[in-house]
Amino acid sequence: MKIIRKSMVTPPPQDSSLIVPEGDAVGRRGDPWTVLVVDDDPDILAVTRISLKDFHFSGRSVRLLCAGSAREALEIYHREPEIAVALIDVVMETDDAGLRLVKTIREEIKNQTIRLIIRTGQPGHAPERFVIDNYDIDDYKDKTELTSIKLYTTVRSALKSYRDLKLIETNRQGLEMVLKAAPGMYLHPVNEIQVFFKDALSQVIRLCQTACPIVRHAEVDPGDLCGFVATLESGDLKIRATVGWDMREQPWAKMVLARIDKATATGCSSPVVIAPGQVMLPLLVHHKPIGVIVLGNLFHLTDNGRYLMEVFAIQCASALENFRLYDELEGANRRAMRMLAVAAEFKDTETGDHVKRLSRQTIETALELGCSEEVALEMGQASMMHDIGKIGIPDAVLLKPGKLTDDEFEVIKSHPGIGAAILSEDGNFKVALQVALSHHERWDGTGYPSGLKGEEIPLAARIVSVVDVFDALVSARPYKKAWPVADALAEIRRGSGSHFDPTVVAAFLRTHRHRAEIRGDDAIKEVFSGRTI
Ligand SMILES: [Fe+2]
Repeated sequence: MKIIRKSMVTPPPQDSSLIVPEGDAVGRRGDPWTVLVVDDDPDILAVTRISLKDFHFSGRSVRLLCAGSAREALEIYHREPEIAVALIDVVMETDDAGLRLVKTIREEIKNQTIRLIIRTGQPGHAPERFVIDNYDIDDYKDKTELTSIKLYTTVRSALKSYRDLKLIETNRQGLEMVLKAAPGMYLHPVNEIQVFFKDALSQVIRLCQTACPIVRHAEVDPGDLCGFVATLESGDLKIRATVGWDMREQPWAKMVLARIDKATATGCSSPVVIAPGQVMLPLLVHHKPIGVIVLGNLFHLTDNGRYLMEVFAIQCASALENFRLYDELEGANRRAMRMLAVAAEFKDTETGDHVKRLSRQTIETALELGCSEEVALEMGQASMMHDIGKIGIPDAVLLKPGKLTDDEFEVIKSHPGIGAAILSEDGNFKVALQVALSHHERWDGTGYPSGLKGEEIPLAARIVSVVDVFDALVSARPYKKAWPVADALAEIRRGSGSHFDPTVVAAFLRTHRHRAEIRGDDAIKEVFSGRTI
């Protein structure tokens, strides 16, 4: 396995567990807590520095930043995004400079997480009760009482509050990400499954960056998280999307498959560490694996991060299963349509090629008219069943070689209604039903079975009407020769506005003109010469 990152050359930390105590999820482990001391008395700054010299909390030391005024404190604040605690004097450049600073941080900057401790040497200027009631502070201390040990206790408890608040915020952000991502996973069209995989992988990486900050060690950066999504196809892993992971070397596949087996055996759906820095997230449906997300350069996983990733994986697996079921349903529909089309062909003299040509030209014309690919494909499938109603026409009439009597023609005219009755059995065949019922309607209202006119005729039926007549003209029948394509196109044009929808005819002719231009077919180009379709 090879990950294209500089961190690959860096061995993972040997001394640390891959599970991090929850408290360390705030910031990178090893980073000091940042404490801002705001006081215009240099002695107080010096004493504070000495008192907190060997301070450690949750495995992290303290970095002190000192400001001699509220103005300077604000400058530092804007430079340093992660200040955990501020110890603030009240009387500095003005009698209430410290209190104003509190108001600015809480009300203007709207930072509710930083712990603010008022530390005054002149309680007369800022009585404790008044300050507590009117300013959003977390503690109030009189400098005269604040011994070194009391300062230690005060800062420690403030840092603990800050850590817990940050943890809650991190959890909230992680859950929000999972909740926001879940509905989006179900919105991908089934033909965009690659986009789904790419999105799912990006989202889980973002989730890790939020919920499982990477521990700082040589050359590993949070942006180095990488991974891939694979699905299980007949026991093998099929890669669906990658981010920053070189797939040319694949010893990982065996390792991942072994771990999937293990996870399945134990029914475990939570993340599994498969190698230092590599975490596998099984995608299970009904306790069976359907795929996997593997993340690289994830050296530490918090309990909360583990939980969020598991929730995300459950959503991801459900969405994937949804895709599969939808695809299966679509496939079943397509197969049913093909079977119906084949059944109709057995009753007619037309060959299977007719419905294939019909389908292709219906799709091309629909696309030329500006229909979406999805709609055009649906129309193409529907076109294959336009004559399904011929199943119900007696062979003596349908296959009669000579001219039909009026009564016999009336029998033939019943095939759209029969087709519609067959297709009305299932709501998934709505477009096919429209085509079967209305493909003999005419734009001028003289068609059958209902005499629909203009746009009363469904668009799919208007397209199939043109394509069906054209294909009949260019096909040889026992009673006629095949027409040359150019003559058939001219005939279609003659029917524009009477038999056929002029817009559909124009689009249909354009598809033929494009084809003729590509092939250099002069006879067909001649049909279009001097005309604007
Ligand atoms: Fe027909």
